[in-house]
Amino acid sequence: MSQVQPAERKPVILSGIQPSGELCLGNYLGALRRWVELQDDYDCIFMVVDLHAITVRQVPAELRKRCLSFAAQYIACGIDPKRSTIAIQSHVPQHAELTWVLSSLTSMGELGRMTQFKEKSRKAVSTDAAVPDVPAVEGGGASQQANAALFMYPVLMAADILLYQTVGVPVGDDQKQHLELARDLAQRFNHHYSETFVVPEPFIPQVGARIMSLQDPTKKMSKSDDNANNSIALLDPPDAIRRKIRRAVTDSETEIAYHPARPGLANLLTMYAVLEGKPVEQVVQAYSGRSYSDFKSDLAELAISVLEPIQQRYRELMQDRSHLDQVLADGARECRRRAQRTLSKVYRKLGLVEPAR
Ligand code: AMP
Ligand code: TRP
Repeated sequence: MSQVQPAERKPVILSGIQPSGELCLGNYLGALRRWVELQDDYDCIFMVVDLHAITVRQVPAELRKRCLSFAAQYIACGIDPKRSTIAIQSHVPQHAELTWVLSSLTSMGELGRMTQFKEKSRKAVSTDAAVPDVPAVEGGGASQQANAALFMYPVLMAADILLYQTVGVPVGDDQKQHLELARDLAQRFNHHYSETFVVPEPFIPQVGARIMSLQDPTKKMSKSDDNANNSIALLDPPDAIRRKIRRAVTDSETEIAYHPARPGLANLLTMYAVLEGKPVEQVVQAYSGRSYSDFKSDLAELAISVLEPIQQRYRELMQDRSHLDQVLADGARECRRRAQRTLSKVYRKLGLVEPAR
């Protein structure tokens, strides 16, 4: 891949997932599944964004394991290291360096308005996003104790994207606002210092962009939910998948129909449709006149049939640590080379002195 000249390269796609919690069906249907498809037409970079994960306190030994496990799950889901670049964010120092530069073009107000920051900082004290051993500021609300990296999070994400001249960023619905900032920063830099960055587009799926929690279908399914019954982990054994779907909250109606006022059922229908690759209407039609419990047990078997081969490949990959290490070392080398090209250009345009060779 590294021998290919830039002019012959396909347009670049980049995305990443934080190594926190356990990858879930929401991540698969909203993001990973798309990544796999995009590999045919784009030059793809997929990252395990560990520097983003430390915006919440992590247990070091678990974080280390999870980074490797996530990379293996990307590959098990169908990301092909021969065609795509897979890397761990912290292996590419240019991400943190460009973050600093971009932060000088970002206002505090812009970052303070980010929905994710507002939500996470409000809960900082109870979710480990507070800085330990620092006394609360007098007169400041709970959010004053949130760590500053949580505030800077979207700037680091913009750096991830802009370093590679990325044209498209496949993410779920919740990342739209962060992407908007990445676009603004690219335009701002280009305007002040001349054309440097490609302005990235969000690639958000039409269906499956927001898979909801199984127990509370008004909330999104999240890989770091405390209640394991809310989400299906990619590595959940078949029995857990059956049990969680059987217990998923629906409603007291009997007819299977897609209606936003029946969010539990609508969510399960969406999951079925995306897993099967069919429009929701077709699924509704196929189940007309059938019971919720029939539908749920078919959905569970469908999810198992998609996840079992992924789990099998995952187990094989985790047994060959040296192969995984090699994939990540190759990915990091490729990323560092490409990222440095952009970063050097940025430093030059800013007026920083180039080191003598
Ligand atoms: P997160 O789990 O929040 O780190 O998100 C990782 C990726 O998965 C991002 O692209 C999200 O937009 C996507 N994602 C996370 N949860 C869901 C969900 N419930 N439905 C659809 N996409 C999701
Ligand atoms: N913020 C993203 C999330 O929580 C993860 C992420 C970090 C990302 N850097 C990125 C996604 C760059 C796409 C591109 O899901």
